[in-house]
Amino acid sequence: MEFRISDRMAAMKPSVIREILKQMSDPTLISFAGGNPAADSFPKEAIARFSAELLAEDPVGMLQYSVSEGVPAVREAMKQFVNRRFHVVRESDEALVVSGGQQVIDFAAKCLVNEGDTVAVEDPAFLGAYNTLRSYGAKLVGVPMEDDGVDLTVLEHVLKTQAPRLFYCIPNFQNPTGKTMSYEKRVGVYELCAKYNVPILEDDPYGELRISGEDVPPIKSLDQKGIVIYAASFSKILSPAMRLACCVCDKGIAQRMVVAKQCCDVHTTVWSQRVCARVLTETDIDAHIEALRDIYRRKANRMLNALDTLCPAIEHTVPEGGMFVWATLPVHIDMPAFVAKCLEQKVAVIPGNVFFVNESVPCQSVRMNYSSPTVSDIDKGVAIMADVLRSM
Ligand SMILES: Cc1ncc(COP(=O)(O)O)c(C=O)c1O
Repeated sequence: MEFRISDRMAAMKPSVIREILKQMSDPTLISFAGGNPAADSFPKEAIARFSAELLAEDPVGMLQYSVSEGVPAVREAMKQFVNRRFHVVRESDEALVVSGGQQVIDFAAKCLVNEGDTVAVEDPAFLGAYNTLRSYGAKLVGVPMEDDGVDLTVLEHVLKTQAPRLFYCIPNFQNPTGKTMSYEKRVGVYELCAKYNVPILEDDPYGELRISGEDVPPIKSLDQKGIVIYAASFSKILSPAMRLACCVCDKGIAQRMVVAKQCCDVHTTVWSQRVCARVLTETDIDAHIEALRDIYRRKANRMLNALDTLCPAIEHTVPEGGMFVWATLPVHIDMPAFVAKCLEQKVAVIPGNVFFVNESVPCQSVRMNYSSPTVSDIDKGVAIMADVLRSM
């Protein structure tokens, strides 16, 4: 049958990154292209043990339908977790359990964006967010990134002149640039969005993965007016397969988000919710996170040192956490040709232009992931990049 595709989906393309990753089944390929957690980062034993115990103790509860907001004890455990460094969840907020940070973006768009509405976004930013917003007919307006976060002058101009329905940002160790928004900018973003009455979607999947510097309070912790929708994902600290995130937002909008959830997947899998709650409350979760930080610190330093030593002509960000380095090639190098040549030599990086609202902007940068390759592959891969650069 020739299906008649909706206007909404007809214009949508599959995620460029997922497509690139599909071609990468070659085991000899060194991939700096993905964004997966390190293979040794999962709390496997705890997950296996709690899973078996819970299924033995309460098989019906584990296998039955549940409430859309999330299992109450799990919501409480997540709330305590999210609140342990900064006061993120206010009295007037709800903490909802959702199926990954991606779902928070989806529900925020579903609840707040009409076909043709403008949404302001950090530019570049997470492609998955752009695609989700676009699938609701949003017209994206990019706000350029500076070293310490978005350009506030441009943000104010966009808020004032385009009345966006939402501003999307990733303040910690941004995907793809690895940049962190300074405290001053967070205050600035909050004040501007409050002034122009624009909700903020604060996406924070990497905040726990700090490898240097000091924690910066989330924008949500400044939120006296209830304008921030905050997403804390468990994908990068427990497991992405568990599909878990905590969405913190004002009770008013939370009610709508719950209806969006009912229309989508009814509730997040009880199995993963309850296993997560046990991990949060019955293990030393901070020790686990510290171990993850050690893994990522070692890998990030390895990649940064290799770049500095072997590719001094490449400028790069120095992320204080997360999973990505944004590497910028010298002006005379043709970036797409460089990416293609690296791939021929079996090293994959993502061309930076795909992370921009307008993919055809001139771009000299590539995104490099350090969380999934091994340290020896990091050394080998960067050495190959250096050879390719020299050959060009
Ligand atoms: C910035 C950002 N937001 C959200 C997500 C989605 O994460 P998840 O749905 O697994 O929580 C990702 C995934 O890599 C991401 O990089």
